[in-house]
Amino acid sequence: MPNRDIHQKPFDAGTLAKLELFKLTAEGFLGVFVGSRQSRYKRIQIFDFFCGPGLDAQGNQGSPVMLLKHLHTLGNKIQGKDYKISVLLNDAERGKIEELKKNLRSSKLDSGPYSLRFANREFLEAFPEEAVQMAGAANLVVIDQNGVRQFPPDVFTKLRNLPTTDVLVFMSSSYAWRFQDAPEMQRHLETAKAFGPATSFYDTHRAIVDYYRSLIPAGVVYYLAPFSIKKGSNIHGVMFGSSNLKGLEKFLEAAWHLDDRTGEANFDINREGRFSLPGELPIEWGETKKVQVFERELSQAILSEILPTTAAIYSFSLERGFLPKHANTVLKSLYTSGKIEKVSGLGYSSLENPRPLVLR
Ligand SMILES: C[S@@+](CC[C@H](N)C(=O)[O-])C[C@H]1O[C@@H](n2cnc3c(N)ncnc32)[C@H](O)[C@@H]1O
Repeated sequence: MPNRDIHQKPFDAGTLAKLELFKLTAEGFLGVFVGSRQSRYKRIQIFDFFCGPGLDAQGNQGSPVMLLKHLHTLGNKIQGKDYKISVLLNDAERGKIEELKKNLRSSKLDSGPYSLRFANREFLEAFPEEAVQMAGAANLVVIDQNGVRQFPPDVFTKLRNLPTTDVLVFMSSSYAWRFQDAPEMQRHLETAKAFGPATSFYDTHRAIVDYYRSLIPAGVVYYLAPFSIKKGSNIHGVMFGSSNLKGLEKFLEAAWHLDDRTGEANFDINREGRFSLPGELPIEWGETKKVQVFERELSQAILSEILPTTAAIYSFSLERGFLPKHANTVLKSLYTSGKIEKVSGLGYSSLENPRPLVLR
């Protein structure tokens, strides 16, 4: 993967979409662990392993600046409580860390309701030691790599095994797809397993996420969700991972905020005719829309009593990439058509306090 320096120029639309997704997901994570004041975790850690200098050539905010700014806005909720919030800012390039320190000083983010650690290491070298520090805390791990090589299966497995650790990983998915036969690529990713012969260019990021899903042992609960990002002639993407449905819900809220049509891309990933890619005609007919398919599936599952409670509906929806608001539309329609009794309060609390679905 050519190592182009994205900070020498203004961030492009794809990078801005990725950063918005990082920002909203981090805000959701901090909202759960700090904002709600309901978490038993007092040690909250953010690991931005590929942090860059904090700003692009035009002063747009990179991940470390966004994160620290948001922590400042939570100052009142953090101060006076016994939270310990620590942020690791790492980049393999020493010059970027020096520039970042300068940028944080001038924007007065070099101190705040957090402790900062700077490091200047290759991710794969630093990761094992940092992973040890993750035990016993609520962690958000951001792996904003160039390419796909910094997220091998053993790193995935280690992160997956840490409780209360949410992970955001960026991947240059179509690059791996394009070079799937190259031995160098196969050393990093089981490309034959990730990309079957039928994987289309548009679906490359979904395919990579499915590959990581295939690494989760049967019976282990762990959630993954993709967000595909088109950048010029490439498909990149963010993969979110968490063992907690609330974490997944927060990521999906961010994803649906960016894409109100499918909640998983900054382009027309299902080729539904929203907008066409260069050289394509818009398709306005024939395709079944993702939301409609979900509504039909959920409705059938409720009416055939496969999902007997609000807890089951909440999990079913999130695991398919949908939010409680999408499921509520279905519940409302089943109620108004006289097929179920009224039910409300669908959300994370449904897991502890499930309500039965009563068919009429
Ligand atoms: C895509 S940029 C990250 C941008 C950053 N998150 C932001 O919002 O500005 C990737 C960064 O990772 C750094 N990097 C590249 N390879 C690395 C490695 N193996 N370990 C740690 N950092 C690395 C690069 O210097 C670069 O600043």
